Amino acid sequence: MTNHSRRTILRGLAATAVATGFVLPRVSIGQAARIKLGLMLPYSGTYAALGRNIDEALRLAIAQQGGKLGGREVDYITLDDESDPPKGAERASKLVNGDQVDVLIGTVHSGVAAGMVKVAHDTGALLIIPNAGLEAATGALCGPNIFRTSFSNWQPAYAMGKVAAGRGWKRAVVISWDYAAGKESNGGFAEAFTADGGKIEKELYLPFPNVEFQPLLTEIASIKPDVVYAFFAGGGAVKFVRDYAAAGLPKTIPLVGPGFLTDGTLQAQGDAAQGLETTLHYADGLDLPRDKEFRAAFESAAKRDADVYAVQGYDTGQLLVAGLNGVKGDAGAKPALIEAWEKAEIDSPRGKFTLSKSHNPVQDIYLRKVAGLDNKYVSVAVKALADPARGCKMA
Ligand code: BEZ
Repeated sequence: MTNHSRRTILRGLAATAVATGFVLPRVSIGQAARIKLGLMLPYSGTYAALGRNIDEALRLAIAQQGGKLGGREVDYITLDDESDPPKGAERASKLVNGDQVDVLIGTVHSGVAAGMVKVAHDTGALLIIPNAGLEAATGALCGPNIFRTSFSNWQPAYAMGKVAAGRGWKRAVVISWDYAAGKESNGGFAEAFTADGGKIEKELYLPFPNVEFQPLLTEIASIKPDVVYAFFAGGGAVKFVRDYAAAGLPKTIPLVGPGFLTDGTLQAQGDAAQGLETTLHYADGLDLPRDKEFRAAFESAAKRDADVYAVQGYDTGQLLVAGLNGVKGDAGAKPALIEAWEKAEIDSPRGKFTLSKSHNPVQDIYLRKVAGLDNKYVSVAVKALADPARGCKMA
């Protein structure tokens, strides 16, 4: 068929649709509709490596299905959010309203994710969050069309609060960037730590993505707490762990955190990270066949080691596969797609997980300890931990 006659047929169908009120399917003549995925991630800045691993592992999961979702070819539209919160809603809206993506996927930074959640509410677009732990996304701002394949900021933090209190530490300083993820992570740690008799001596913050840690390290040295809990990730985590060691603090004040402090960063942190203990929904050496298989596939495709961000990207791909296979590639069948996602059991490299009523993973949180280039599995810190989903009307 020539382009001209295809256009003529489509124009005819469109005219009939207007006259009869009949809605045209998104399938053009002679061609099955393709699934459009909108990937909004940090491809630059302090979280760039995190975004890159999410992107590549997501594509890997789909490539393992012959590059298709529910029998349909996939188009990827990528947009750099620069981890810049004011750009969140505007860029998400460009993908949803401009590019008309079938599923919006993103992001890493909780502040940017807040803008994406708003767009998902305003438009009804399907949103899958492959990292950002923003509690409201599966809490007060939860929605039937909003899913997360990663964690809530509360989950690993709460587990570390329990571990720290269990060590008999009583006085803690918490430190982070001054934005939702840092505040929520410190809050989750404080909740468990104080419930078990601990006290937060001081909360220290600096603006994201600032890495001028020196004045805050001097303050920590003068407070002399039993333990420091720190949320930093990506490039900022590399610098913080190195500066903490250079200040000579590890000798007297143990440093702990959620696993983002040392995941994907160990090569750059070198000796400064050795022995650090963190809690996360992933660890090296889990001894799961699924994990070994995934790591080999990721390393062969990406030519670098997998980390928690790659796992989350892969699981986002797995959720897409489960849902779209369930509806035979009809991304417009939203209620059925949502139901398939709600019922999915994801066979993740981290261990199998399901989603809570608020659409957040219910998962084991591991205690890990840095040895060489590994965040070595130590134990399960909290089994099958569900986020409390505070304020979510669906939960
Ligand atoms: C967040 O902003 O939610 C986040 C960023 C990096 C790692 C973990 C959480």
